[in-house]
Order: sequence, then structure tokens, then C-alpha cells
Amino acid sequence: MGIGIPKIQKHMYNSRIAGLGYYVPEKVVTNDDLSKLMDTSDEWIQERTGIKERRHIIKGEETTSSMGVKAAKMAISNAGLTPNDIDFIVFATLSPDYYFPGPGVMVQRDLEMNTVGAVDIRNQCSGFVYGLSLADQYIKSGMYKNVLVIGSEVHSTGLDMTTRGRDVSVIFGDGAGSVVLTREENLEKGILSSHLHSEGRHAEELSVIAPAMGTRWVTEIIEENDPDDTSYFPYMNGKFVFKNAVVRFSEVIKEGLEKNKLGVEDIDMLIPHQANLRIAQFIQKKFRLSDDQVYNNIMYYGNTTAASIPIALAEAVEKGKVKDGDLVILAAFGSGFTWGSVVIRW
Ligand code: COA
Repeated sequence: MGIGIPKIQKHMYNSRIAGLGYYVPEKVVTNDDLSKLMDTSDEWIQERTGIKERRHIIKGEETTSSMGVKAAKMAISNAGLTPNDIDFIVFATLSPDYYFPGPGVMVQRDLEMNTVGAVDIRNQCSGFVYGLSLADQYIKSGMYKNVLVIGSEVHSTGLDMTTRGRDVSVIFGDGAGSVVLTREENLEKGILSSHLHSEGRHAEELSVIAPAMGTRWVTEIIEENDPDDTSYFPYMNGKFVFKNAVVRFSEVIKEGLEKNKLGVEDIDMLIPHQANLRIAQFIQKKFRLSDDQVYNNIMYYGNTTAASIPIALAEAVEKGKVKDGDLVILAAFGSGFTWGSVVIRW
């Protein structure tokens, strides 16, 4: 290769999203419902976060894996496939049913799939983007043809629903989303690139620092031990997270565009991780994107962490907001800190 000629990554296949699915629990929890449990208000929550309501599971009825399975079923059927067509499972969550094993194997079990591999991703709000990137590489390398990627979270069982925890607990919701990533022979179509990052020096800024606790309700553990022990609840340095989020979202979207020699004007749909409507609006304004170019649903689901991008993407596709040939960008930022983007030609 001559000097000055940029290296072009060659691969035999591309990967494209062939089917999408999502599931959210039926129980709607409004801001007014929360203000009965803690000192907060609909006005405060909407003004600061854009959230009007979120979904919570009913204890004993759903788990992270059961919701993930429902979303996965929908994605597989939308792809026109059956569970036995799936070659590999990627499951992203910060709220697994058990400390171990992770929920990936429960999908293999509950969908009665072949004994294909299953991997669990621990990257919080960036989990789905990391998972999609991993699946993409398996397909591009030719190793697998159809990879199931799931993001699912049960937050409601682990939140401090008192005034003490209000800055965190009003934000998060439960839900699941999934895609089937499939082999695509047209290299112009599908996932064009993905970009992943981390900065562990901020690990404690958005974290649960207690030892992992398996399936038990956090509130029960705390009552039995020390009622003042808040280490089991998520801690978030909100302002610091916000400031880092807007910078990293912008950087990683730009990185994705530059890698593909594209500009902001080429974006047809940006699906940001639904962290906070204000963050998404900041990014939208910064990139001068119209309302049609950004999809948000945090108003109805809150922040569902690893589930937020696949739920939003599935809804956007369902509503006809993503068309064949569109340039779609997924971008995430979260605990770790970790962040990433995926650039897709739909
Ligand atoms: N209801 C009412 N008041 C609340 C409240 C709630 N749910 N939560 C916090 N407050 C109070 C605070 O106690 C504080 O009161 P004080 O001024 O008397 O001390 C006041 O509201 C302002 O709190 P502050 O934390 O400074 O608000 P903020 O403008 O930073 O907004 C967040 C808080 C959490 C909404 C905001 O920081 C944020 O969204 N950060 C990013 C979060 C995020 O994206 N996380 C996910 C990343 S994946």
C-alpha cells in the first residue's frame, strides 16, 4: 500500500438489523404517583428531565430476563426467523435476575433455542451499543449469521423510593428492547461502523458500590442490616454526569460521522440513549437537528438504561420514522463512564 493512502478495513459481509422488538411492563408510574412516596413534584421532574411517567414491574411477575425474552420473541418474529435460526445471544443489562449466571442463558432456555453461545454485557447505559458492536464484529468476520441482541432492565426493585433517593429514583424505569442482527452482502448497507470508549476514573460517579446482591430486593437486605446503609442504592453525581454526557455524546457522534466521511446533514435519525430529555435537546441544538431527526421517548419510559436505545429504535421503526436508506445513528453514554455510537445505513 502506498504512503498516504488511508487503510480501508475490508470485510466480507456487513450486518443489518433485520427485526426489532420491545416490551415494557403494563404498570405506569406517573410523577404524581412518585410524589406520594417522596418530596418531589410533576413540575420538578418534567422541568429537569422531561419525564412524565415510567413503567415499573409488579414484583414477582417480571424479571430482566423475562422481559428480554418477550422483546427477543418479537424481534425474531419481525425478522421472519425462528429462535433456532439464531447463532448467538448478546444480553446487556445492569440488573440481571441473578448475580450469576447472567440472563443470556435464560433466553436460550426460554426460547428453547439450540445450545448457541450467550454472552452478557456489563456496560450500563452503553450496554446495547457495546452489544450491537460485538454482534456486528461476529457477523462481519463471517463467524455468525444471525445474532440476537437484547437490552433489558428492572430498575424499580433497586431504587430508594424515599426523599433521600429522589434525584435518582425519579429518572429510571423498567423495560426491554431487542434486535436481530443479520448478515448483509451489500457492504453499503447496515452497520457502517461502531465506536466504543471508557474512562474508568469516573467509575464511582454513577454506580452501585455495594457488593452485587443477586435476586433479593435491596430494601429487604437493608432492613435486615443497617437501615442507613445507602450503598446498595445507585449513586449519581447528576451534574457531573450531565456535563460529561453532553461532551461525550457530541464527540462520539462526530467520530462516527467522520469515520464514514459523512456530515451532520446526512443524519436522518439520531437515537440517543434516553438519559434525560435535556441532554438529548442539547445535542439536537448543538448539531442543529430538527425534531424529525431525533427520536425521544423518555417522556413515557424514563431512562431504561441498556433497554432505552432498542426500545426507542423499535418504536421509531414501528412509527415509520426510519426508512430504507436512512442514515441512523445510535449514541450512548453511561456509568463507567462508557460511551459509544453505531452508524447504520438502514
Ligand atoms: N424532586 C424535587 N427536588 C429534587 C429532586 C426531585 N426528584 N431531586 C433533587 N431535587 C432537589 C435537590 O435536592 C436540589 O435542592 P437544593 O437546591 O435545595 O439543594 C435541587 O433539586 C437541585 O438539584 P440538582 O441535583 O442540582 O438538580 P439538577 O438540575 O442537576 O438536576 C438531574 C438533577 C439528576 C435531573 C440532572 O443532574 C441530570 O439529569 N443529570 C444527568 C443524569 C443522567 O443523564 N443520568 C443517566 C446517565 S446514563
